[in-house]
Amino acid sequence: MDATPTTINRLCDHVGKSVTLSGWVYKTRSSGKVAFIVLRDGTGLCQCVLEKNEQTESFFGDVKKLAQESAIVITGEARAEERAVGGHELQATAVDIVDAAHDYPITPKPHGTEFLMERRHLWFRSQRQWHILRIRATVVDAIRRFFNDNKYVLIDTPIFAPAAGEGAQTLFEVDYFGDPVYLAQTGQLYVEAACMAHGKVYCFGPTFRAEKSKTRRHLTEFWMVEPEIAFASLTDVIDVAEEFICSIVQRVLKDHREELIELGRNIEELEAIKKPFFRLTYSEVADILHGPKAKELLENDLKVKTARIEELDGKIEELDAVAKSNVKQWQKDKAAAEVIEAREERSELQEQVTNIPHHMDLAANFEWGSDLGGSDETIISRLHDRPVFVSHYPRDVKAFYMRQDRDDARLVENFDLLAPQGFGEIIGGSAREEELDRLVARMEEEHLPQSDYEWYLDLRRYGSVPHGGFGLGVERTIAWLCGLKHIRETIPFPRMMGKFYP
Ligand code: 4AD
Repeated sequence: MDATPTTINRLCDHVGKSVTLSGWVYKTRSSGKVAFIVLRDGTGLCQCVLEKNEQTESFFGDVKKLAQESAIVITGEARAEERAVGGHELQATAVDIVDAAHDYPITPKPHGTEFLMERRHLWFRSQRQWHILRIRATVVDAIRRFFNDNKYVLIDTPIFAPAAGEGAQTLFEVDYFGDPVYLAQTGQLYVEAACMAHGKVYCFGPTFRAEKSKTRRHLTEFWMVEPEIAFASLTDVIDVAEEFICSIVQRVLKDHREELIELGRNIEELEAIKKPFFRLTYSEVADILHGPKAKELLENDLKVKTARIEELDGKIEELDAVAKSNVKQWQKDKAAAEVIEAREERSELQEQVTNIPHHMDLAANFEWGSDLGGSDETIISRLHDRPVFVSHYPRDVKAFYMRQDRDDARLVENFDLLAPQGFGEIIGGSAREEELDRLVARMEEEHLPQSDYEWYLDLRRYGSVPHGGFGLGVERTIAWLCGLKHIRETIPFPRMMGKFYP
């Protein structure tokens, strides 16, 4: 009987039949006359069992020696097996070795993040990374679906931009045949033009910021989706953002519950993401930062984290002793690997503990008029179990295109959306200034050369209407959904300050 080529995720359709799987060796184990290979093929993991008998004798020895990440084509009978990873198993009868790998550098034991980042091209074969990037693919699909289903027109905006869209400090300059141009920080100004042609539009692509900050929230290249709506008020835009976030969360919960659990994500926290989200103004947020809840939160953090550091110190000491003692080599290796992990956690905690008094200080002395810092956002986001819209920031700290509040000239009609549990800002948006005179005056204050923006000002000269939109950062959203401490794992090849390899 000919074997049917299939993939691990389709094994359920072939139980009792002969199939062929093509993939890579994830793990092996053998005991005398049986070899177990956990195969990964891009769609999942499957345990393959190969017994030594007349049929397999000629290649059994080679298969037993196969190392991690060797590429193979394996044939056998598919069986349902509840206890096996993925719920199926292959009783193998033939193995074709496509490429025998040797000394694959990423072994099942823990490695430091630096080590893994240098090997990102291999690292994303690992289960955890595989889950995250599949969730990313779903998030991207959910984003497109939301806007396409709601009749927004996709507008692809340019990457080479003649001028700043979000402030000059984070521009990457490129030599464009002798002229300076900049990598796009946003597609917004262009979707503003497009919404006057199509009503509801969005752009979705990579954006670039020369962020000179090495934080867990910053990439220099990230993906942003930016809807823009004609005849929309700030409230209209916020309502869309709320609906949009709920639709992404629902989709990820529906398609990736198991992966989220594998990643250690608290599912209940995600299930609680329902309308209505919290809606606060910037001034209300300033009051919270000055208040007792913020102080209490950080004081408690200090206690919990200091205790954990002490616990880790004890653990590191114990593990070091094991690594130096007279135990088997594999036990020493295991202890040494766990020390790396513990030290990494310790150094992260130490940094946080050192920063907490500073963050307390920043919150307690937060001055009305300054922008919310990362630590301020974290406090607000941790004090809420659903996302928080923060609106009406002081005009002076926000971008030139934001609509001035007609009731309070010090403010703009903007908002940030903070994801809960400390993940912080995932969306920034606003109503746009639709009056030519106000916009030009604001640009003058900002010393923006009007000549670079004449085309943009035309939008206020010919049929200008109230309009607005927002930008959602894909990687920050994924970090929140997956519960990741650092944004670097949410994108296949992260670009950060000092990091552009591989
Ligand atoms: O708040 P931002 O700068 O807003 C804009 O770019 C507007 N033009 C959007 C609009 O109204 N059309 O950025 C929007 C989002 C942030 O909330 C964040 O999620 C993400 O983009 N973001 C970053 N993500 C990763 N690394 C960075 N350096 C980021 N900067 C912004």
